[in-house]
Amino acid sequence: MAEPDQPSTARMIDFWLGGEHHFPVDVAAARAFEGAYGPCAVIFRSLRAFLGRAVRSIADAGVDSFLVFGAGVPTRGNVHEVAPEATVLYTDVDPVTIRLGQRILAGSDRAGYGFGDATDIGTIDPAQLHRFVPGWGRRPVGVIFLGLAAFLDDDTLSRTLDELYEVVAPGSFLAVDFDGEELAGHPRALAMMGPAFRMRPPTAFGPLLGRWEPTADGVVPVARWRPEGAPAAAPDACYGGVATKPAA
Ligand SMILES: C[S@@+](CC[C@H](N)C(=O)[O-])C[C@H]1O[C@@H](n2cnc3c(N)ncnc32)[C@H](O)[C@@H]1O
Repeated sequence: MAEPDQPSTARMIDFWLGGEHHFPVDVAAARAFEGAYGPCAVIFRSLRAFLGRAVRSIADAGVDSFLVFGAGVPTRGNVHEVAPEATVLYTDVDPVTIRLGQRILAGSDRAGYGFGDATDIGTIDPAQLHRFVPGWGRRPVGVIFLGLAAFLDDDTLSRTLDELYEVVAPGSFLAVDFDGEELAGHPRALAMMGPAFRMRPPTAFGPLLGRWEPTADGVVPVARWRPEGAPAAAPDACYGGVATKPAA
């Protein structure tokens, strides 16, 4: 794969997770961000561990297919690795990330990767959707929406989550996270996140979920969502939870 000349948040996260799918340009951007904020690996490892617990909880509820938005690099404890019996469609809008994901998943008959703009579900290739999310709209699905809400304004985010609620079958689940206000005290790091980045107070999360019903675990700092043992000692940078469209 040709070496990209711009960093990507997805590959920076792969670097922080100790993965193998990033380039010098990503490492330089990750180091610069750490210079402005502080160590990030602990935050992204805690977020990836949350993804694992959330996906397992959804699979334990009987869901056997997942649709992942803003998927980034599909390794390091990602969905098909923690739910190996399930089928998974990873989607993203970044062409370099999509090519990387397709290369990583080449040969898998259970997980695929394609274009998908989370704010317009119609952009997903229907053939891929029906192959990897069989019974789409008729059978419950796990929708994974992590690392994305922070880049969508309130109106776009609530419309998007409501449209997803409308199209998925009853009994479906949504795993979602929001960025809290951790970066408020780090203006240089905040500026590096770009103009679209949105921090939100926890009181904002519930209304944005609209009709999705959070489980009794709530939307909490990700390290404290159903921790297995003592929660990881990570800053409360990201809040997450699992919500449902109740079975009819
Ligand atoms: C911060 S990364 C998160 C990656 C991954 N979900 C994780 O948690 O490690 C955000 C990803 O969302 C993608 N993205 C940004 N806007 C998007 C949109 N409207 N629809 C789908 N993906 C989007 C970016 O290309 C990037 O790969």
